[in-house]
Formats: sequence, structure tokens, C-alpha cells
Amino acid sequence: MSQVIAADLVLMDVNLATMDPSRAGYGLVEQAALAIKDDKIVWLGAQHELPSLATETPIVPCRGMWLTPGLIDCHTHLVFGGNRADEFEQRLQGVSYQQIAEQGGGIKRTVAATREASEQSLFELAGKYASAMSQQGVTCVEIKSGYGLDLSSEIKMLKVARRLGESLPLQVQTSFLGAHAVPAEYVAQPDSYIDLVCEQMLPQIAQLGLADAVDVFCESIGFSLAQTEKVFNKAQQLGLPVKLHAEQLSNLGGSALAASYNALSVDHIEYLDEAGVRAIAESGTVATLLPGAFYFLRETQKPPIDLLRKYKVPMAIATDFNPGSSPICSLPLMLNMACTLFSLTPLEALQGVTINGAKALGLDAERGSLTVGKQADLALWDISHPNELSYQFGRNTLQQLWQKGKEVNFGGVQ
Ligand code: NIG
Ligand code: FE
Repeated sequence: MSQVIAADLVLMDVNLATMDPSRAGYGLVEQAALAIKDDKIVWLGAQHELPSLATETPIVPCRGMWLTPGLIDCHTHLVFGGNRADEFEQRLQGVSYQQIAEQGGGIKRTVAATREASEQSLFELAGKYASAMSQQGVTCVEIKSGYGLDLSSEIKMLKVARRLGESLPLQVQTSFLGAHAVPAEYVAQPDSYIDLVCEQMLPQIAQLGLADAVDVFCESIGFSLAQTEKVFNKAQQLGLPVKLHAEQLSNLGGSALAASYNALSVDHIEYLDEAGVRAIAESGTVATLLPGAFYFLRETQKPPIDLLRKYKVPMAIATDFNPGSSPICSLPLMLNMACTLFSLTPLEALQGVTINGAKALGLDAERGSLTVGKQADLALWDISHPNELSYQFGRNTLQQLWQKGKEVNFGGVQ
């Protein structure tokens, strides 16, 4: 065979869980090789079929370990000031998440701490969390604003998110979540706050290029359907895709509304009913499941997994990392929780943090699977089958990580 491939790096003696939707299941290719050129995958397949390599192409021997796409955490609130460990203690004594929110705690407390914090201190704190994520195999993370709730503080949060993407080996996608809660100064007039979000905040943030998508917290302790629709209309005018925190604590019909705006994803959805599932199935909207928040709030209502399967809705899994409902920045732990708490299969869970996580961010054409032409975001794991990623936790099995074709240097992950 005379074909020669030009590659910067070739991984050899590796097993691939490609997660490529055009292959079945995990898309397994065993005893494989995978070649990278620049930031792309240029070849993959059985090692004995590997074309000739230019001499001196660097080889990474993988000793039979498993390669997956870099993990994608498609829903986080990773930039915030302070923490809410004291509210956790209150909840342990029986005060509910909603009661804490109604008493001025919850999101509003984090808003106060975030407004007070400098951009630099937010950047440093968020950097610690983002690094912890990357040490566990994450190469792409979505970060929401929503703890500023005024123009300058929302801009501050989104700038921090953008800076994280520039300074860490992480692709950062931002979502503007100005409609996360009504800030203290607008408590008596939530509609005026929504007008501010639509008329001032969203247009300026779009103009600055700080948001890749727009999100709303549609809930009894958040915003109504009508208020959500106003924000979605503005986002649509500005050409920004939408997503929604929907049906987390009650069923308001937010998911069906989001579907009518072709939302990228609806997230939480514990209270979603069959009509809602049908609506998101028709719009191709991803169902993002957040088992960390379900666990940490000790919820009992599970998302309608069987209906999501029946209507073939793609399911993503994310950490929802935030200081109130999910102070958990381990995406591998979410794989386990998605299985134990929501009865997903290990395959569905891994799809949730790879190809379906990419879909929830509108990035599935370039990320989320090991496919020739896609970005070389790769995670190498010391496991003997990809189902182990959902099975054990506590030992970090990540051996090596590449983002955009470059090896991530953690200085100490083993
Ligand atoms: O996704 N539901 C709304 N927002 C977050 C919680 C934020 C907080 O409690 O600080 C969530 O669960
Ligand atoms: Fe959230």
C-alpha cells in the first residue's frame, strides 16, 4: 500500500469508543490507531490498516487503553462569587431550596457575592473549578452568566468565562442567563426587569460577542412562560440560539415553548410530561439531564427517561455546577449518577457527555465523537471497557488528554 498520511501525532495500540453516531453503540474500534494533524483527527481505524507514516512521525503508545472524545459539560454556572455551604446545612435541617430562595437566600445571595467580587477574583476561583474539570477529561464546557443580574456584572461574568477559554485548554461556550432570578432592586416589578434584560442587557451583550446562546430559568421561583417568551423573541431577533431551565420543580410548559423556538436544549426536565417530550422530539431539542442537582436537592421526581427513549430524544448529561443546587464539578461522577439515579445505561450516559453534549451546544458537526475531520479533543482512560467510566468513581482513570490536538499538561494528574 503506497498511501502515506501526514500526521503530527499517531496514537497506537489503543481501543476507541468513537461515539460516532454512524456506528452502533459505543462505535468501538479495537486494536486501533488514530492520527492527528494540527487540531483535527485525520485518520482512525484498525491499526493493521494504518497507512504508511512519514518518517519521524511521533507515536504515542497507548498500551491497550481506551480513547473517547474529550468530555463535554454542556450546562454549568461555573463563574460565581462565594459559596453557599451554610444553606446546605439549613436544607439538612429541613428548610427547602424554594424556601431559602423565597427568604432572600439562594441565587440572590450568590448575586450579591458575585457583584462584589472583582473580575480577577472571579477568574481565579472559576479557574480552579475549570482546571478540576479538565483534569477529569473535560475539553469543552458551557458557562452561564446569571449571578450578576445587572449589565456590568453580567458582562463581568461573561468576560471571565471568555478569559477561561483563552487561558485554559478548554473550549468555553457562553450562555447569557440574565433571566436567572429577579434581582433585589426589581422584586416589586419583575416585568420591568425582563424589559431591562431584553432592551438593554441582551442587545449590548450580543453586540460585545459575549454570548453564544441565551438561557432563562422558567419556574415558579424564576420566570413565567410569558416572560420567557419575551427573552426568546429578543434572542431570536439578535440571531442567538436559546436553551431553557425547564420543568425542574414543576411543570409550567417551558419545554414546549422552548421547542417552538427550536431551542438547543431543555435542561433539568424532571416534571416534563408526554406532550412536552413530543414537542422537543419534533424540534430536535436535546434533553439535558442534571443528576447532580437532583441528588444534591434530594429530589424524588425523576425525568421521564422512558418517554425520552420512546420519542428518541437525544439525552445529554451535565454537572450544572453551581454553588446552590449542584456544587459538584465532576462530570465522570455524573455518569455514575445518571445511571444510578435516572437508570440510564452506561452507553447512554457516555453519549450524554460526548455526542449529545455537543448537540446541546450546537457543536456536534465538529465535536463529540472520534470522527475523521472533527476536532482532536481526546481523552485516554486506564480502563478495560468504556462502561467502566460510569461504574467506578473516586480514582481518576484519565491518563492523557488532548485538546485541539495538543496534549494537556496538568503537572500531576495520574
Ligand atoms: O440550574 N435552576 C436554576 N439555576 C441553578 C441553580 C442556581 C443556584 O441555586 O445558585 C440550577 O439548578
Ligand atoms: Fe442550571
